[in-house]
Amino acid sequence: MTTADDFRLLGFTDADRADTERMVVDEQEVARFAATLRARIGTFPSAPRDEEMPTDPLVSLAGFLQTLPDLRRFHRERGVPDEISRATLADLGRHLALHRRTHGEFGLETHWWLTAAWSGGLYHLGRLHFLLQQPREPVPGVEHGEWVIDVHIPETGPLRPDVVDASFEQARRFFATHFPERPARTATLTSWLLDPYLLDNVGPESNIARFGRRFTPYGTPWDDNGSTVYFVFSTRDLDDLDRLPRNTALQRLVLDRIAAGGHWQVAHGYMPFR
Ligand SMILES: CC(C)(COP(=O)(O)OP(=O)(O)OC[C@H]1O[C@@H](n2cnc3c(N)ncnc32)[C@H](O)[C@@H]1OP(=O)(O)O)[C@@H](O)C(=O)NCCC(=O)NCCS
Repeated sequence: MTTADDFRLLGFTDADRADTERMVVDEQEVARFAATLRARIGTFPSAPRDEEMPTDPLVSLAGFLQTLPDLRRFHRERGVPDEISRATLADLGRHLALHRRTHGEFGLETHWWLTAAWSGGLYHLGRLHFLLQQPREPVPGVEHGEWVIDVHIPETGPLRPDVVDASFEQARRFFATHFPERPARTATLTSWLLDPYLLDNVGPESNIARFGRRFTPYGTPWDDNGSTVYFVFSTRDLDDLDRLPRNTALQRLVLDRIAAGGHWQVAHGYMPFR
């Protein structure tokens, strides 16, 4: 039973709370997914296997709600301060709001992403999210089985270098204090923000370029217009690009490159975490 306090803690809007309370989901599926989530808490697997994810994202949502007490208990056992636990879990409400903004209705298309927070390995520390994990693919200088910190950027305002510095500082202290048995020497990032063309063209003094240049590229970037268009325009629709706004320098850069036949890319990078 999710209480009014829980909905507040999880950052639900009134509309998303109301739709959650009246959604109808397969209870057996929810119980199965909740058991999967419980088994993952504290193990920090890098991502759920496809077959572990419910096909109906609302089943996932119900599973997240059902396992909230388990996750809160894990945070307390690890000595995670309550305000950090709350800020981290409010990502669920934020993703419901993002879904509503993108699709105009209740839903949780990014349900797979919330499994990171629900593993107990992801924390909202200052400006950024940090996920303690063992990378599935090789990272330069990282041995097999070694822990790394995967960095994520919620859409919560500008990425100013000073707040990013403070966030990394906080994260270094946080993980050394609460997860000392899983020391990480390296931070990783996989993002449209590391597209080499973006970093060369967004302006060297922009927050994006200054953030991206912290990371050393590795691996081969891959084409993914969808990711960049989603993060810049909040739409999954790639068919009607002419109708998208051209208000910011970045919006113009994104649209002009696609119009010229180019492809936006997602790329990997790493940096020292100590
Ligand atoms: C990453 C992010 C915080 C950077 O924002 P920022 O600090 O404002 O970025 P910059 O200052 O470097 O912006 C440079 C230009 O791009 C514009 N811009 C930056 N991010 C933008 C976005 N998501 N949508 C539209 N325009 C954007 C800025 O307005 C600025 O243009 P201007 O000079 O015309 O004002 C922002 O893009 C964002 O919130 N993205 C969504 C979350 C995300 O992408 N996470 C990573 C997922 S892998």
